Amino acid sequence: MLTAEQRAAYDRDGFLVLPDFVSVAECTRLRERALQIVDEWEPSARRSVFTTNEQTRTSNQEFLDSGFGTWCFFEEDAFGPDGELTQPKELSINKIGHAQHDTDDEFRRFSYDPRLGTIARELGVVEPLALQSMYIFKQPRIGGEVTCHQDATFLYTDPITVTGFWFAIENATLDNGCLWAAPGAHRGPLRQLFKRDDPDDPARATGAVFEALDATALPTPPADVHHPRETSFVPLEVAAGTMVVLHGLLPHWSGPNHSATSRHAYSLHAISAAADYPSWNWLQRPADMPLGAL
Ligand code: FE2
Repeated sequence: MLTAEQRAAYDRDGFLVLPDFVSVAECTRLRERALQIVDEWEPSARRSVFTTNEQTRTSNQEFLDSGFGTWCFFEEDAFGPDGELTQPKELSINKIGHAQHDTDDEFRRFSYDPRLGTIARELGVVEPLALQSMYIFKQPRIGGEVTCHQDATFLYTDPITVTGFWFAIENATLDNGCLWAAPGAHRGPLRQLFKRDDPDDPARATGAVFEALDATALPTPPADVHHPRETSFVPLEVAAGTMVVLHGLLPHWSGPNHSATSRHAYSLHAISAAADYPSWNWLQRPADMPLGAL
């Protein structure tokens, strides 16, 4: 699937941009299915907000259970002072996560594309398994920032093998909160871990907390995306249908969406079956729902 040049670029930069990886028609199908899931979502009972800023505070039982289900998380800014949504539900959801690649036919079809397994193997992931999926809406006006992080913090294996496949379902631009990556920074250390909050019995945890590993600062995202200064991040403005492959140690970031245009994206994370997956990882599957091979 990949040329020697592309593999070398991935090793050098920690990411790879593959334009036109999927057709716009396929993007549209996934987008429509995502909107259908949101339409069918009944949020009255419990409202889980997702923000990477305060993941400790917002990681709760619904978050842990979403590791083997399909859950809609609200944008932090979706609610007014009265606690009611200030825009329609379909414009209020931050993301759908985290197992729809195994629980939903349309997502399964999109995710188990044999090309992904081939690419993962070509990049050194032995026996790649599909671990986690997220459909990210980055809603107009209220789409939240995803603070700078390394995916291995949230999906840890020993050795580190987590590899991200990020699909632009809609065009991603500076205005609507495109992804930013720090080329070469995947060679730095893993800064922190995100662990279930009951280390003695992870199955009894009711949330997850960060544990510091290395104090080396992550690269600083630009204060103004249109005039980025003194940042090692580069913007990945890409058209719908583009896939970006992300190394698990690569610091990446996306800003808030203040524009009138949404920025839908789908991300699927793979790990190697040959690596150890600790039981303190927030995402745990029940025994009758094993990970699928890519
Ligand atoms: Fe990420």
